[in-house]
Amino acid sequence: MAIIIDGKKVSKEIKDEVREKVLALKEDGVELALAVVIVGNDNASHVYVRNKKRACEYTGIRSIEYDLAEDTKEEELLSLIDKLNEDKDINGILVQMPLPKSIDPDKVINRIDPNKDVDGFHPINKGKMLEGSECFLPCTPSGIIELLKRYNIEIEGKRCVVLGRSDIVGKPMSILLLSENGTVTTCHSRTKDLSSITKEADIIVSAIGKAKFLTSDMVKDGSVVIDVGMNRDENNNLCGDCVYDDLFEKCSAITPVPGGVGPMTIAMLMKNVLHSYENQKGK
Ligand code: GUN
Repeated sequence: MAIIIDGKKVSKEIKDEVREKVLALKEDGVELALAVVIVGNDNASHVYVRNKKRACEYTGIRSIEYDLAEDTKEEELLSLIDKLNEDKDINGILVQMPLPKSIDPDKVINRIDPNKDVDGFHPINKGKMLEGSECFLPCTPSGIIELLKRYNIEIEGKRCVVLGRSDIVGKPMSILLLSENGTVTTCHSRTKDLSSITKEADIIVSAIGKAKFLTSDMVKDGSVVIDVGMNRDENNNLCGDCVYDDLFEKCSAITPVPGGVGPMTIAMLMKNVLHSYENQKGK
């Protein structure tokens, strides 16, 4: 039987830590602000953005939303980013992904001031992450590292298997686990004999977005499973990448969906906005 890794509880602890500092700053007349830019009508993205705004309200960070139409021109979005980069009252800029097909996401990410890139998506921050130097880390993978640490799950020397190689989760997850001295294997759609790899893993992070993909026969007894998936099952219920009930019996620790990784992403974003202010002030 597994320990349930309670991302909701840990994320509240983190948000409370941020809130305390943000409220102390407010007493000194400083207000932190996050610009949240969303383009188009993607339903899931609107839900994520709503949750991010709620977390801002909770922590005392001002969120300024820019809700742009699906047919927004790339140039218009780039000009908005230029304006937000210049605005001294804005500490962080978040452009919700995915963007409509007519807009090149790399161009947009490249335009964000790396010092305000609270998502950790800018190439400068990615490069610094590779080096292991101080930077904004992407929120989902850094939230997973934080969860493992707060549950005293050792990464050093452990066999870590990451399922998925997306820019937002899989790739940075592999790098962060490596930075913590894990022995990391990244698996993806072209990986052969996946089960033989997952069965060797002490820690599995699944970020592939396939409902109930990871089954208990694919893991060894006592493994730790982190489920990043947000999928709908055959009955339209929210579920992760893992067959939770079966894995729960076999694993030593597991994250539920919902209430596992999801809330951590938002808590780490709040932490990044606070860091952004602290860095900007320190300059
Ligand atoms: N889309 C899915 N996850 C994320 C995220 O962490 N940040 C942004 N900006 N977009 C996303």
